[in-house]
Amino acid sequence: MRHLMNPLDFTTDELEKLFDLAQDISENPAKYAHVCDGRILATCFYEPSTRTRLSFESAMTRLGGRVLGFSEASSSSAAKGESVSDTIRVISSYADICAMRHPKEGAPMVAATRSLIPVINAGDGGHQHPTQTLTDLMTIRTLNGSLGNFTIGLCGDLKFGRTVHSLIEALLRYDNIKFIFISPPELRIPDYITDQLNAKGAEYEEVIRLEDSIGDLDILYMTRVQRERFFNEEDYVRLKDFYILTNEKLQLAKEKMLILHPLPRVNEISVEVDDDPRAVYFKQAKYGVYVRMALIMTLLEL
Ligand code: NCD
Repeated sequence: MRHLMNPLDFTTDELEKLFDLAQDISENPAKYAHVCDGRILATCFYEPSTRTRLSFESAMTRLGGRVLGFSEASSSSAAKGESVSDTIRVISSYADICAMRHPKEGAPMVAATRSLIPVINAGDGGHQHPTQTLTDLMTIRTLNGSLGNFTIGLCGDLKFGRTVHSLIEALLRYDNIKFIFISPPELRIPDYITDQLNAKGAEYEEVIRLEDSIGDLDILYMTRVQRERFFNEEDYVRLKDFYILTNEKLQLAKEKMLILHPLPRVNEISVEVDDDPRAVYFKQAKYGVYVRMALIMTLLEL
C-alpha cells in the first residue's frame, strides 16, 4: 500500500505517468466516470480549506466514488482529544482512501504509519503540500511545454508557504531551472531549503523587489502571506501588502510569462490581472482536480 506524504515519494517517471493519466482524464472524462464506483474517500481536514478539500471531493465524485469527512477539527473527535492515529484506524474501516490536512507538521505521516488505507497529505502546517505541487507541476508541464529549462520566481511568504517548499524540492529533480526568491527579509526561504539548493548546485538568487527581476522570469509563482502562521498580528499587517502584482508591473514581464498562484489570493494579485492571458491560476485550480483524480486512481491501483 502506498501513501503520498511528499512529492518526492514518486519518481519523476512515475510523475510523468500520473500527468499523462491526468491529461487523458481531462480529455476523456466519460471514460473515467465510473472507475471508483463503490469506493469512498475520507477527507479529514483539521484546518480550513476550500480549494483542496473541494478539489478532492470533486475528483472522487467525478470518478463515480463517494466522499465523507469533516472540515474542521472542532467538528471531529479531535475536539474530544482523540489522536490522529486512532482516528485513522477507525476511518480505515469507513473509507478506502483518506486525504488529511493538519496544522501540525508530520501529522499525516503519523496517521500513515497506523493506517490500513492509503493516506494523502493534503497539507501539514508550514511543511509540505504535495498535491498542490503535483497541480503546479502539471500546470507548468502543460502550459510551459516542459518541466525544465526555465527561470521561476517565487514571490511572497517563502518562510511559511508550504506550497513553495514542496514545489522547490520537486523542481530540484529537473534540469536547468533557475530560481529567484522574491521576499521581504523576514519571510525569506528557510535555510533547510537553500541547503538543498546548494547541495544540488542549483542556480538561485534572493531579491526583495519584484520589479527588479520580473523581466527575467518565465514563471512567476505568487503566494499570500500566511497570516495563520504568524506569531503576532502586527508583523502580519506590516508585511501583508508587501507585494501587489498589477498590470503596470506586468508591463515589465515577458510576453509569455506564466503567473501561478496556489490560491486563495488576498491582495497580492490585483483583480485587474485576472484578464491578462498570462494569469493561469484559475486554470491551475482546474488541473488540480484532474491530478487528484489521477492520484486517487494510482493509489487505489485502479
Ligand atoms: C495553499 C495552502 O493551503 O497551503 N492553498 C491551497 O492548498 N490551495 C496556499 C495558501 O493557503 O496560501
